[in-house]
Amino acid sequence: MLARLTTFAIDGLASRRVTVEVDLRAGLPGFTIVGRGDAAVRESRERVHSAVRNSGFEFPNRRVTVNLAPAYLPKSGPGYDLATACGLLVASGQVPSDLADRWAVFGELSLGGQLRPCGGALAVAEGARRHGLDGLIVPRECVHEAGLVDGVAVAGVDDLAGVAAILRGEEPPEAPEQHVDAEPDALAEDLRDVRGHEGPIRALTIAAAGGHNLLLVGPPGTGKTMLARRLGGILPPLTQDEALDVTRIHGLAAVRHGYGLITTRPFRAPHHTISSSGLVGGGMHPGPGEASLAHHGVLFLDELSEFSRPALEALRQPLEDRHVTIVRGQRSAVLPTRFMLVGATNPCPCGRGEPACDCTTADRNRHRRRLSGPLLDRIDLHVRVERPEEAALTAPPVTTSEAARELVLQARERQAARLGSGCNADMPPALAPRASELPADAREALRDAYARGSLSARGHSRVLRVARTIADLAGSDEIGTRHLLEAIALRQPADFADEEGT
Ligand SMILES: Nc1ncnc2c1ncn2[C@@H]1O[C@H](COP(=O)(O)OP(=O)(O)OP(=O)(O)O)[C@@H](O)[C@H]1O
Ligand SMILES: [Mg+2]
Ligand SMILES: [Zn+2]
Repeated sequence: MLARLTTFAIDGLASRRVTVEVDLRAGLPGFTIVGRGDAAVRESRERVHSAVRNSGFEFPNRRVTVNLAPAYLPKSGPGYDLATACGLLVASGQVPSDLADRWAVFGELSLGGQLRPCGGALAVAEGARRHGLDGLIVPRECVHEAGLVDGVAVAGVDDLAGVAAILRGEEPPEAPEQHVDAEPDALAEDLRDVRGHEGPIRALTIAAAGGHNLLLVGPPGTGKTMLARRLGGILPPLTQDEALDVTRIHGLAAVRHGYGLITTRPFRAPHHTISSSGLVGGGMHPGPGEASLAHHGVLFLDELSEFSRPALEALRQPLEDRHVTIVRGQRSAVLPTRFMLVGATNPCPCGRGEPACDCTTADRNRHRRRLSGPLLDRIDLHVRVERPEEAALTAPPVTTSEAARELVLQARERQAARLGSGCNADMPPALAPRASELPADAREALRDAYARGSLSARGHSRVLRVARTIADLAGSDEIGTRHLLEAIALRQPADFADEEGT
């Protein structure tokens, strides 16, 4: 007696069809699972055995062999439990096979037979649609995520008995209420709380408008963290495709369940003790790292100089390529990392910076060395955040998040008209502005800056992109000299460069 159930393996961001074959033979009772499963898959035997019995079914008193095909694909995690249990029920004739042939099942079982949510429900539902299946049964908590996919019926179920009822032809239960995604951070923190800081707010706006990376440098307590946290509130909303990407990635990481589409831009602020694999994924980390969780959003590294050197180095590739290849076992997966990097740091160990600084040159050089040059070169906007003037503390705020967001949205509209999709920071090289398109004096200024040695070759092309964003903010089709000069000024890592000489 052989049964075949369809489920899916998560492979990178996508899912791959897995057929769970269950065979019952006469002989000594036993239960074997083959097909390159990891420890969680091997332990599946115990869960499935108890879940079947505790749900009022009979565990067949035969030799049970389960094969997860294709065998070359490594399987990990507990998501195969449900397919294995259903296969047993079909093979032993306790559940008919006709619906089980056309529906996929996905979920972890508890010993009592309850279904537990698993990461990757959206990717699994996309797989079910791709393979033309009629429907998909998932744990109830995953139904909103899986239900984002059109063209395939999704049933959210509480336990194995409920799954068996659907396979026997009963109507699936109604989907439960969706949890409301309450993420107040982005909107509750408004730029109107910030006193002074016209320059840094301007830089924040430029960064948001073009998707550029930003570094805030200044003494303690001047509002660096405060400014960075207000970036989310001035970014444009996610498009539908971006929201699906974000939901897929966060669904894989299984950080939370019970939500449908994630519609707020990710803002990830990992602690500085994070490891390089925690930051970019891979290694012992099975899921996406912070860099992928920040895809389409912001990766905020507060106290940048405190992050370990290997962690910061690991960010270089994803910052350049906008994706990261993580290797697990013999397989590799490509995860997207299209995030804006925002860093904040003190200028030196004492934090005061010039002229009050009392650090030694050696201290300052050590501090500087902790921030890798190649990383700094990938940051387009370097901004000094000084203590605001006393008058600024009582004056009205420079702007509000609403006003700044309006500017950002207009600049993004201009970019969309020109680029189709994406923003200036990641426009394809063919569309990127060229020095030859600049007015003569702007070309001269760029040549000067390059000759002075303050721009790398990367900086030379990136400064043009920032200038493009500044022109977009000004509503200008041409990049003017003013725009370019502002972009060059924003790129100077002056805070650190000065200190090497002293
Ligand atoms: N420009 C400002 N306008 C209004 N409040 C401010 C400003 N700067 C600092 N503050 C107040 O000081 C608090 C601390 O600021 P914040 O944490 O942003 O400092 P920081 O620059 O990140 O310091 P550190 O280098 O120590 O991390 C803020 O929560 C806010 O209440
Ligand atoms: Mg801070
Ligand atoms: Zn100092």
